[in-house]
Amino acid sequence: MSDALLRLDNVSKTFGGIRALSDVSLSVPQNRIVGVIGPNGAGKTTLFNVITGAYRADGGEVLFDGNTVTQWPPHRIVQTGVARTFQNIRLFAGMTVWEHLLVAQPHQGHVLRRMLPVRWADPAAWQRAEEALEIFGLTEVRGIIARTLSYGIQRKVEMARAMTARPKLLMLDEPVAGMNHNEAEELRALLLRLHGRGLSILLIEHDMAFVMNLCQQLYVLDFGALIAEGTPAAIRQNPAVIDAYLGSEAAC
Ligand SMILES: Nc1ncnc2c1ncn2[C@@H]1O[C@H](COP(=O)(O)OP(=O)(O)OP(=O)(O)O)[C@@H](O)[C@H]1O
Ligand SMILES: [Mg+2]
Repeated sequence: MSDALLRLDNVSKTFGGIRALSDVSLSVPQNRIVGVIGPNGAGKTTLFNVITGAYRADGGEVLFDGNTVTQWPPHRIVQTGVARTFQNIRLFAGMTVWEHLLVAQPHQGHVLRRMLPVRWADPAAWQRAEEALEIFGLTEVRGIIARTLSYGIQRKVEMARAMTARPKLLMLDEPVAGMNHNEAEELRALLLRLHGRGLSILLIEHDMAFVMNLCQQLYVLDFGALIAEGTPAAIRQNPAVIDAYLGSEAAC
């Protein structure tokens, strides 16, 4: 589809003898919420790493917003509008929530400005950080050392940090892992609000209730290969997916 925001054509990635991704083709249309599911080790995080430039594909192409970004370094891919969170939370020791939202921003002007203390950050960066605090309901914990907060809130800090880059595509690797039911529900509503403002989202998640209630389109990976794609309703009933992954979870 030519109007896709993100498109992968036959992407492959091998580690030693392991084929982590095998000719994977998928697309994320503008303003869609797309999910990637599959068993542990299926290649989901590797897929994110290839899209964001952390790993270079061995074969195939990654196209984002009209650019072929397959060979681009990660910072350039961020600048073109892709932001992500990590499966294992990556927060800095000793930094407050607010500091995380300021330091992570890619466009902070001249290199000398970036070396200044956080309180002298670019006013635009300040503004983006304030917005992210507000959207993610983090205003009350802005001064708290992020790593001392609950797991669910730390995940929100990571997402808020990703949003300060004002991405076109937000990529979330297991966003509700470690969240309780209420936090997950709250996050689902929040992501729907961001989607309502035009954001496209690509997410990996094992929580099937969350995925099925949020995503408009799903891709299923198994041993590095796509075994199915379709709407949540179709995927839930797909025999190959039930066999490889959903099993008894299919009822959810
Ligand atoms: N940097 C790496 N070096 C070597 N092998 C790797 C590397 N990254 C991933 N792999 C391997 O690639 C395969 C896919 O791993 P990946 O982390 O992408 O799976 P996943 O679908 O995200 O799994 P999970 O649901 O457990 O997070 C696994 O066999 C993994 O061991
Ligand atoms: Mg993973």
